[in-house]
Amino acid sequence: MSTSALIALDLLVAVLVTAAWLAAAGVVAAGRRGRLAPVLLAGALALTVARAASALLLAGRGWWFAQEKLVLAVPLLLAAAGYAAARTLPALLRGGAPGAPAMPLFMAAFSAAVGPVVTMVIGYPVGLSGALVALALVGAAGLVTARATNVRIPAAAVALTVLFGLVGGGLAVRPTPGHAHGGDHLASSALRGPATPAPGGAVRRYDLTAQTATLTLPSGRRVDAWTFNGTVPGPPVAARQGDLLEVHLRNRDITPGVTLHWHGYDVPAGEDGVPGVTQDAVTPGGEFVYRFRADQVGTYWYHTHEVSDRGVKLGLYGSFVVYPRAAQSAGLDLALPVHTLAGATLVGDTDQPVERRVAPGTPVRLRLTDTDDTPRRFALAGVAYRLVAVDGNDLNAPGELTSVTLRLPAGGRYDLAFTMPVGPVTLVLNGDTAIVRLNPDGAATPDARSWPELDLLGYGSPAPTPFGPDDRFDRDLSMVLDRGLSLSGGLQHAFTINGRAFPDVPTQVVAEGDLVRMTVVNRGTATHPWHLHGHRVLVLSRDGRGPTGTPLLLDTFDVRPGEVWQVAFRADNPGVWMNHCHNLSHADKGMMAHLAYRGFEP
Ligand code: C2O
Ligand code: CU
Repeated sequence: MSTSALIALDLLVAVLVTAAWLAAAGVVAAGRRGRLAPVLLAGALALTVARAASALLLAGRGWWFAQEKLVLAVPLLLAAAGYAAARTLPALLRGGAPGAPAMPLFMAAFSAAVGPVVTMVIGYPVGLSGALVALALVGAAGLVTARATNVRIPAAAVALTVLFGLVGGGLAVRPTPGHAHGGDHLASSALRGPATPAPGGAVRRYDLTAQTATLTLPSGRRVDAWTFNGTVPGPPVAARQGDLLEVHLRNRDITPGVTLHWHGYDVPAGEDGVPGVTQDAVTPGGEFVYRFRADQVGTYWYHTHEVSDRGVKLGLYGSFVVYPRAAQSAGLDLALPVHTLAGATLVGDTDQPVERRVAPGTPVRLRLTDTDDTPRRFALAGVAYRLVAVDGNDLNAPGELTSVTLRLPAGGRYDLAFTMPVGPVTLVLNGDTAIVRLNPDGAATPDARSWPELDLLGYGSPAPTPFGPDDRFDRDLSMVLDRGLSLSGGLQHAFTINGRAFPDVPTQVVAEGDLVRMTVVNRGTATHPWHLHGHRVLVLSRDGRGPTGTPLLLDTFDVRPGEVWQVAFRADNPGVWMNHCHNLSHADKGMMAHLAYRGFEP
């Protein structure tokens, strides 16, 4: 069984056991004669055992999947259930419900409820304050029930409930330890790019003006958008390796402000476009010039990082491709950012299928980019092709692919390459929507819905890497991703890292030169496309198994529910970097952290 299925099963058992204890309590409180009460009690006890078993099974998948269950929920349930059985069983066996007290059964039910409530509300990790508040809630529920059923309330019960509530609540609202400041800190904003291209390179200038616009899409649909230069996506930014990029950003009327983030590109920190960290957002009338060298080839993209959830969705993004220095053989090379704009699917700048005539024998490269919040499923039909690069990084010995589905994480890029055959070639989105047609000639859209998903961890061939799973790591960062509550700015639903939502997530500190291992665990039910700025990470393992094929260097990797990823990177790009979920609505609700080099302040 997969970890996510186990998580769901455990939650189901937790809810059932609560219901069973509640039912037993209700029947006993109603004083019903007969065998119903003992049967319900037996059922509740059986589910209690099942609950302990499911939590233990889950713990086998990793401590972080079961921590709050093992330290709080299950012990509390076992204690309350044992007590309730001891208090009620003799009377139930003798004469049925009328002779038995209902209160212990109610307390067992409230204790059972701690499991699902704590899992859904607090998540990982549950600390002392969460545990005390949970106990106070159980106590409070007991007090209310005792009053309602005219049971004498011991003074100690009241005192303990109040004490737990006060201490637990007090600990919870205590301010979180701030970012450790001290000594002289440097600002990331000072780390700017060079002013000249590499020898032989050119200077590439771009002017991007952020502005609102009403677009008419090729389908005739009209959409209010936020644009660069009046188009969605913004103008493609391109360079050859060694060129200097000089991008002049202006803001005409995007009220919350705008920046340019070069997604996946390891620019100097001061060019990274993160408002409040590497620069101030550019407000209407303002401007900012980005300057950096195009050292890495490959497919990237740019987008605003100010109110990025809203800004990117509304259109503030574009493709960014760096070509090798040597001129490519003439062919078809398409950058295809795929985006959902007001419900329409945009491929490049059109909401209609892209059609091209291509002479057979022509080399073709399709550069797919997922600019949405969720993964996209692509399939290429009509030709055997290779997935030659992921996130701008070439794969080693990628084999030929036919009839497979490529699942592209939010923010990620896939480069597909092939030689144009004689017949039509179709790029299909989500199994049945043709988005690119090469030489269509009336061909029907292939049905790719049943094509199996390619697992990148088994694609291509192994090759040496600068470091690997057996190295000694200077630093270990672990991030347990979940949903939970945020206390900053009022109690809110949040997406959390180690139980905290940004800005309360402690800054992750590394030193320049460190070899850093990052473990990312998904305890929740949503996929989290993980994205670290300024570095590409090498995949060490997923659920304990390393890649058997090509080494994978990524800047965005999907951590699906129940998965545990280990990745590593060399800390070789000083500054302060965002480390966040690229489902930007999750990032907006707290799933972000700062990764700071020692000596730099966020
Ligand atoms: Cu494309 Cu911080 O993100
Ligand atoms: Cu997420």
